[in-house]
Amino acid sequence: MNRRRTVRVPASSANLGPGFDVMGAALDLHLEVDVVETGQFAVHTDLRIARDKRNLIVRGFAALASPDEFEFTIRSDIPLSGGLGTSAAAIVAGLVAADSIFELGADVLGEATKIEGHPDNVAAAILGGFVLCVDGHAERFEPPPGLECLLVVPSAAVRTQKAREALPSRIPMADAVFNIAHASMLVLGLARGDLGLVARGLGDRLHQPRRAHLYPKSWELVQAAKGLGALGATISGAGPTVLVWCDMESTGVVAERLHERAEGWAQVLRVPFTPAGAVARF
Ligand code: HSE
Repeated sequence: MNRRRTVRVPASSANLGPGFDVMGAALDLHLEVDVVETGQFAVHTDLRIARDKRNLIVRGFAALASPDEFEFTIRSDIPLSGGLGTSAAAIVAGLVAADSIFELGADVLGEATKIEGHPDNVAAAILGGFVLCVDGHAERFEPPPGLECLLVVPSAAVRTQKAREALPSRIPMADAVFNIAHASMLVLGLARGDLGLVARGLGDRLHQPRRAHLYPKSWELVQAAKGLGALGATISGAGPTVLVWCDMESTGVVAERLHERAEGWAQVLRVPFTPAGAVARF
């Protein structure tokens, strides 16, 4: 009785433009849960999320162990309108709590990917930093010095399931080639610390143009970002949040311009990338 853990998990931005379902980055916003063995099941939170066994933290925990004797107290500063990996953070929090309490050494990435359906957000949430997901494994790396981001978070939500349904099962060869080219350029730019290459690598033809009708204002902003002084912008995950990529020299100016553009429909947040992934403490 009375085993307990507090698990803290970062938000994340998936896809990073061309890296659909492959690339992600952890962000310095967090979901935190206290998991305490009290002998009964309960979920406590002020957030507008499920408080029964549909809750994603509980589902993550239940994938490894019974949640029946545990109470879950949940806090989060991750905006809920979409694109910042809240569901991934929740699933990972539950899995990490159960893995740590029962000392299981579980394949948290594999289990989280099964529940979430794609690996990019869960990998960033587990490992922190930037991630590339390939063949069921994730490679983590640090972003280059001088790279910063701003988030433009619309108040109107987009549901990930709807965004996934908007994508076709087949795509033209030219679109596949376009994304391979840009993803390669982006990774080279990130690895070399060459922000010019990063800017040239942000293009995507797989998901953003096909989902644009779900987040028209966000899409307009993605296209305007370079003109506002940013390196570029990408739809964060399935949207509608926009990740605006900046050279640290111009982040302040870009933020001011974004505040004007976002007036009335979105908030602009200055959030660092974070090197830290999910952590469980006693
Ligand atoms: N790669 C996923 C998608 C991320 O774009 O559907 C969802 O958060």
